Amino acid sequence: MWIKGKLYLGEVVEGCVEFDRKIKSIKKECKPDLYYPDSIILPGSIDMHVHVRGMQLSYKETVATATSEAAYGGVTVVVDMPNTQPYINTHERVLERIREFENFSRTDFGVYSGVTSDARVDGDPIAGYKVFPEDLEKPELEMVLSSNKLKVLHPELPISNKVLRESRLLWQEIASLYLVRGKVHVTHTTSLETIRLAKSLGFTTDVTPHHLLLEERDCTTKVNPPLRDKTERNKLLRALFEADAVVSDHAPHTAKEKELPFEICPPGIAGVSFVTPFVYTLFKKGVLSLERTVELVSKNQAKILGIKAGEIKEGYVANFTVISFNTWRYSTKFSKVTQTPFDGYPLEAKVTATIVEGKVAYDGESVYPIRGMNLFDKTEKP
Ligand code: DOR
Ligand code: ZN
Repeated sequence: MWIKGKLYLGEVVEGCVEFDRKIKSIKKECKPDLYYPDSIILPGSIDMHVHVRGMQLSYKETVATATSEAAYGGVTVVVDMPNTQPYINTHERVLERIREFENFSRTDFGVYSGVTSDARVDGDPIAGYKVFPEDLEKPELEMVLSSNKLKVLHPELPISNKVLRESRLLWQEIASLYLVRGKVHVTHTTSLETIRLAKSLGFTTDVTPHHLLLEERDCTTKVNPPLRDKTERNKLLRALFEADAVVSDHAPHTAKEKELPFEICPPGIAGVSFVTPFVYTLFKKGVLSLERTVELVSKNQAKILGIKAGEIKEGYVANFTVISFNTWRYSTKFSKVTQTPFDGYPLEAKVTATIVEGKVAYDGESVYPIRGMNLFDKTEKP
């Protein structure tokens, strides 16, 4: 198969890429199978922080609906958080979770295990471990911290879950960084201070669009860690230049759950399809260079995860995100969540097509049930 158009290869060049499941060669001319004359062909976006749900939480979202929504948003790889029901932190559950993705995922994927005392998990084909605030006081944390695998930290102290919402203060986020070590990625940072401290400790970091853009108003904007005040949010805009990645923290809940009184309604915002159009809109507006944009949504995340993805390069997985610079207003399309706080947000970049494993997963209209692969399965044939 050949794809032709304006390719991003460190700079934008007219050309062709030959691929099957992997990228085989890059040439000037070809007889293309896929031709996008009015768009730009970018490395497939990655989202290393997604609560896909499924299993007993399928009433909120399923692997099929979350990954369809991801493909609609240009995302070619989702990495799944373990706080589903049942919780994913044993060898058997990890394998069961991977099987669920093998059957239903329309994008490539990875799964994180929760913190565990099951030593067999470390030999499983996982993306790493998710460390939630409550895990920071568990004895089994030590085993996870001594693993060579990636640890993704939700940076808040265990006490955050026990105190009133107003007491989930920024210092707790900052303090949590001192309780981990090794290959650590600090996710959904809410302040520039956290990013700078994380970097000085040798950790990588990401931000979410909601922590940059939104103000807490009702349950639709209730999320953990909480949205900070305007001053902190404005300072956090520097994260676009200092953090390693932008992720969604896609955390779907039903409309009914989100209508519960604020004190008891579940935190979480769905936005797996918002990140890529949003970040490429910042490029279109001249805020970010194209190089930096690709780093935030593709290249850096692939590096942190240790996968051969996120760049248009021979031998890398044939995942592409095709973008055109049209104006439109955001809404979800395939997720079970039909209302998000980003609805109506004006965007200037739109996903024309999403190609996963060399196949069209989204064509600007529909999603297709292509087979996503576990990119963390090293036994898999090239
Ligand atoms: O707001 C959040 N929602 N924060 C989390 O840590 C979990 C997530 C969820 O799973 O809903
Ligand atoms: Zn999360």
